[in-house]
Amino acid sequence: MSEPEGREAPMNATVTVRVPGAEDMRELGLRLAGGLRAGDLLVLTGDLGAGKTTLTQGVAEGLKVRGPITSPTFVIARVHPSLAGGPPLVHVDAYRLDGFAELDDLDLDAEIAESVTVVEWGRGLAEGLADDRLEVVISRADDTEERTVTIIGVGARWASVIGDLVDGS
Ligand SMILES: Nc1ncnc2c1ncn2[C@@H]1O[C@H](COP(=O)(O)OP(=O)(O)O)[C@@H](O)[C@H]1O
Ligand SMILES: [Mg+2]
Repeated sequence: MSEPEGREAPMNATVTVRVPGAEDMRELGLRLAGGLRAGDLLVLTGDLGAGKTTLTQGVAEGLKVRGPITSPTFVIARVHPSLAGGPPLVHVDAYRLDGFAELDDLDLDAEIAESVTVVEWGRGLAEGLADDRLEVVISRADDTEERTVTIIGVGARWASVIGDLVDGS
């Protein structure tokens, strides 16, 4: 179907990368961090053990925030302040949250505006936090360490820069 002239179809920029091992996953996070700024939201999807926290550790390293980044058992959201004068990292584990109202109850709006926010298990919930976001889907096959990571840029913020994010060093 063609679009009326002078108007672009809204397009979600997508890039898929193969990630052979855990160190490569951290490296991917580190590279992503290079293109992130305050207000950005990453929504991570993938089974338990897929590598969501590992990717977040790379993002944290790239942002130079205070660690450690762990999968919290009881804490749902943690703020990691920058050690380098940059934006803090807000790391949310939405696994135990039951619906958007509970996420909304965390009152993260102010933090999100001035931080880079990463939400594990955020699909179906975190979309309500921001119109522009990076959706990161991690999948794996049995009997291999390799992961496939699909990064979908949603919204004007990501329309053209997503390829640079992954290619840039
Ligand atoms: N290619 C890979 N990418 C990410 N993690 C990997 C990979 N291969 C092996 N691993 C291991 O898988 C585990 C992923 O755990 P974690 O990042 O906590 O997952 P999640 O947060 O998605 O539950 C880690 O122990 C990591 O070392
Ligand atoms: Mg995790």
